[in-house]
Amino acid sequence: MKALVTGGAGFIGSNLIAQLKKLKYDVVSLDNYSTGKKENEINGVLYIKNDIEYINSIKTKFDICFHLAAQSRVLPSFKNSEESFRVNFGGTQMVMEWARRNEIKVLYAGSSSRHQDVLTSPYALSKFMGEEICLLYRRHFKVDVEIARFYNVFGPNEIVDENHGNVIGIWLDRLSKGLDLNIIGDGEQKRDFIHVSDIVDALIKISKSDLKNDSGWELGLGKSISINQLFHIFNKRFNINCKYLPDRPGNYKFAYRKEDKMLKKINWMPKDKIIDHINNIEI
Ligand SMILES: NC(=O)c1ccc[n+]([C@@H]2O[C@H](COP(=O)([O-])OP(=O)(O)OC[C@H]3O[C@@H](n4cnc5c(N)ncnc54)[C@H](O)[C@@H]3O)[C@@H](O)[C@H]2O)c1
Repeated sequence: MKALVTGGAGFIGSNLIAQLKKLKYDVVSLDNYSTGKKENEINGVLYIKNDIEYINSIKTKFDICFHLAAQSRVLPSFKNSEESFRVNFGGTQMVMEWARRNEIKVLYAGSSSRHQDVLTSPYALSKFMGEEICLLYRRHFKVDVEIARFYNVFGPNEIVDENHGNVIGIWLDRLSKGLDLNIIGDGEQKRDFIHVSDIVDALIKISKSDLKNDSGWELGLGKSISINQLFHIFNKRFNINCKYLPDRPGNYKFAYRKEDKMLKKINWMPKDKIIDHINNIEI
């Protein structure tokens, strides 16, 4: 099997490629390294360092394209919204056009922010628009595309800088620097934290399945905890202080995956790994 992973040098992309290699896939990554990292590269993979627009120059035949490349976080999307729309919407349109021409199945990395008001951030809107362009190509041009929506993903290779990280990554970075953990808003906002190994497992299962999920695959644990509860887990392990910062735009209140029968059909059963993950962290 031959797979193209866009965003293959990033957090989720590098975990996905590691598993694809274990399964003996022939893998190519297309990534511009805006947040992706050279140290995430894996032996035996062809890494193309280029913008998503370069996809038009790729002539090889693939069995599957995992389209993960994106301006991938809320905060930078406020700093450079033009880039969010160029990559997340325009880039996805190019991937769809390429897939149509070459008859390649695509799995699009959607975001659970789609279930919020998508106008809460340029990120949420641009990822939602990416979904819509996928649906248009599915309906009118018969592209075999599935949308997989991720909730809050954590695990190895997670981005740890303040601008691009998710809460766990940012806290790990602050811990390593001996800084208090910051909580944005009142900390009562709830998130569904899902380990990257479960996301990878689902992506591979969806890619191999002939099932069509018209409403999109919801890849969350199905359980949420508040940021304050997350802090208690960190505090128990590291005995650290927190400080509360003013709330920010885009910081919605609640997200968790609802029951979804389609997930049982691909035999996907994610496990709650957050406490083990935090307890096993060495700083
Ligand atoms: N991590 C999460 O919790 C989460 C949640 C929901 C959705 N997602 C989606 O999953 C996907 C992967 O996210 P991630 O957490 O691995 O983020 P990431 O930033 O680590 O990965 C994105 C990758 O895309 C690359 N990229 C960015 N712009 C590009 C461009 N113009 N051309 C080529 N490559 C480009 C980056 O260099 C990076 O390697 C993204 O589409 C993101 O929106 C992630």
